[in-house]
Amino acid sequence: MRPEAAAEAVALDRVSLDRVTVQRDDRVILRDISVDLTARRIAVIGANGSGKSTFARLLNGLVLPTAGRVRVHGLDTRRYTSALRRRVGFVFTDPQSQILMPTPEEDIALSLRGLPRADVERRVVEALAEHGLADHARVPASELSGGQKQMLALASVLITEPALIVADEPTTLLDLRNARRIADLLLSTSAQIIVVTHDLELAARCDHALLFDDGALAASGAPDDVIARYRSLCA
Ligand SMILES: Nc1ncnc2c1ncn2[C@@H]1O[C@H](COP(=O)(O)OP(=O)(O)O)[C@@H](O)[C@H]1O
Ligand SMILES: [Mg+2]
Repeated sequence: MRPEAAAEAVALDRVSLDRVTVQRDDRVILRDISVDLTARRIAVIGANGSGKSTFARLLNGLVLPTAGRVRVHGLDTRRYTSALRRRVGFVFTDPQSQILMPTPEEDIALSLRGLPRADVERRVVEALAEHGLADHARVPASELSGGQKQMLALASVLITEPALIVADEPTTLLDLRNARRIADLLLSTSAQIIVVTHDLELAARCDHALLFDDGALAASGAPDDVIARYRSLCA
């Protein structure tokens, strides 16, 4: 492989922040964050208000750094906004904010707009079956349970085959059983995932963890060590 090609191949799975600061008015929300992430499943933990959601939003360009640089799979988030949006799927805490169409069938089909109609129909049927929504294809999405809504939101993201999935507390509103189902699905996808969570069991199942504390990156490493650090900060 040419050296440049090797560098590009490496960049593909890498999420890197280089001295990133995010400021709003006079307030520093994230302070001088540098980190280089190549693990496939990454958990982000920390107290409320520590900067986790701001970090998550940096990764798809929803938030831009005030200083420093964010590169996601080789793309500088400042320059490649639309390429980034195609590559990065975002899952929110509240699935309702992400379900755009009246029914599950239409919502998943929306993610496939532009493809031939027969392909869309086939893939929608497959996705509904795969996510346990086959019997709810045409039920108003507003009538789905919380777990079903989050499953639908995730199905609509997964079907676009994002290279990176960023999920901001995707299980916070769910009961234990549904939280497990969503976590299992997230952890089993072939995409790289970065999941913000208060669910330390989910964090422990990841390959790497980040701990935010008051806008600073307080720890980055093996999940068990980072979780222990979080517990000691709270003690
Ligand atoms: N757009 C914004 N304008 C002003 N302050 C913000 C904005 N977004 C977040 N903050 C503040 O930054 C801090 C970190 O927020 P956030 O990233 O949402 O933390 P977390 O997700 O860990 O709870 C909080 O104190 C929050 O109030
Ligand atoms: Mg948050």
